[in-house]
Amino acid sequence: MDKFRIEGGRPLEGRVTIGGAKNAALPAMAAALLTAKRVVLRNIPRVRDIITMRSLLDEMGADSSLKGEKQGNRLALQARKIPDPTAPYELVKQMRASVLVLGPLVARFGHARVSLPGGCAIGARPINLHLKGLERLGAKVSIEHGYVEARADRLKGDVFHFDTITVTGTENLMMAAALADGVTVLENAALEPEIEDLAALLNKMGADITGAGTPTIRIRGVSRLEGAEHNIIPDRIETGTFLAAAAITGGHLILDCVEPRHLTAVVAKLAEAGVETRAAAARNTGGPEALEAKMSSPGRAADVTTQEYPGFPTDMQAQYMALATQAHGSSVITETIFENRYLHALELARMGADITVDGRRAVVRGPTRLSGANVQASDLRASASLVLAALAADGESVIDRVYHIDRGYERIEDKLKRVGARIERISEV
Ligand code: EPZ
Repeated sequence: MDKFRIEGGRPLEGRVTIGGAKNAALPAMAAALLTAKRVVLRNIPRVRDIITMRSLLDEMGADSSLKGEKQGNRLALQARKIPDPTAPYELVKQMRASVLVLGPLVARFGHARVSLPGGCAIGARPINLHLKGLERLGAKVSIEHGYVEARADRLKGDVFHFDTITVTGTENLMMAAALADGVTVLENAALEPEIEDLAALLNKMGADITGAGTPTIRIRGVSRLEGAEHNIIPDRIETGTFLAAAAITGGHLILDCVEPRHLTAVVAKLAEAGVETRAAAARNTGGPEALEAKMSSPGRAADVTTQEYPGFPTDMQAQYMALATQAHGSSVITETIFENRYLHALELARMGADITVDGRRAVVRGPTRLSGANVQASDLRASASLVLAALAADGESVIDRVYHIDRGYERIEDKLKRVGARIERISEV
């Protein structure tokens, strides 16, 4: 398992290019199962989860080809036939977002066999609402030997209300409804930008979806979908992570290829905490926007509660906690989305942070001097938090199990090195 060795204490200075959003690319890849034609996705992030999803689609029988940065990180997918609409346990256990193939497979082929994702470090994360929604659209769903078996001659549009707002649940049902007979209305749908991006792709493929990005999404089913080309939106969580990296190291970064509108809650909270961010001249005029960040004052404590979009994202909670260790005062963090998303707090405490966790609340007292230590990553965003803390700590840190971070960040050590971080990957066989 690879590790990172980081020597902290250096402010980060320079420009970083932000990649495409992993959580937009994954549903977009699943959407390719809805048509026999070719779907071309650009600005695909080269992260582990994308490789896993590609392996899953290839195993099912789809053709795929991935071009490098010079060709726009372009992924072409074509699911002419899917002889075996199964998502096996070996792949699903690596990445629970594999469940996103469920809706497309049932909608197009009338059958799907998808391993239940099981638990995850940050919470139980059931998929009951995905299944309840498919049943509402007429699918017969059963659980056999740890697999979801879903069958339907043809899904039928209906109204479905989500008891809990779920991002991938909304995406799964939007894709299933795209080929259903009649109109589907999804109520209490998730509002994330990744939902709007998926709807934009589906509509390019010939779907008829309105209301994506609002709590009520209307999908008028069509009989067939065509191929399409689509640019994946920038990754708002990678953007937020690098804004926090500039702040925690007392540096100054300019982030290229970002969409500032997708992280207004993060920018507002960082401003409250003393981080000045503003639009910057994009590298190539007329290109995607740029955002620059630096500490405008000593870090200030600021409370934060994670919420569904457009609130402060749960995927930025761990990164914010690392920053809060350097703030003057006590910051109260409340995690409302997942029940066990404070695993990083214990590791930050080993570096000297003063954090008290009580259920869904964590109180971070600062500023505390962080010292480098051997720490262990537990999940994707927790590992990002440990990297941020190590960059600010005195001395050397070694972070173990960085495969977690590779799931959602593309060669983060290269991007950090280019702006002055002393970080190296230690690959262990
Ligand atoms: C998506 O996960 C993201 N993953 C997560 O990002 C993100 O943390 C999460 O949304 C919340 O924003 C992808 O988009 C691939 P949910 P998802 O369904 O869809 C409960 C990362 O770091 N729930 O919105 O799995 C669930 O337990 C990852 O990239 C049900 O009860 O999350 C949770 O408490 C981590 N029943 C809440 O809803 C269901 O059927 C939100 O979960 C579905 C969800």
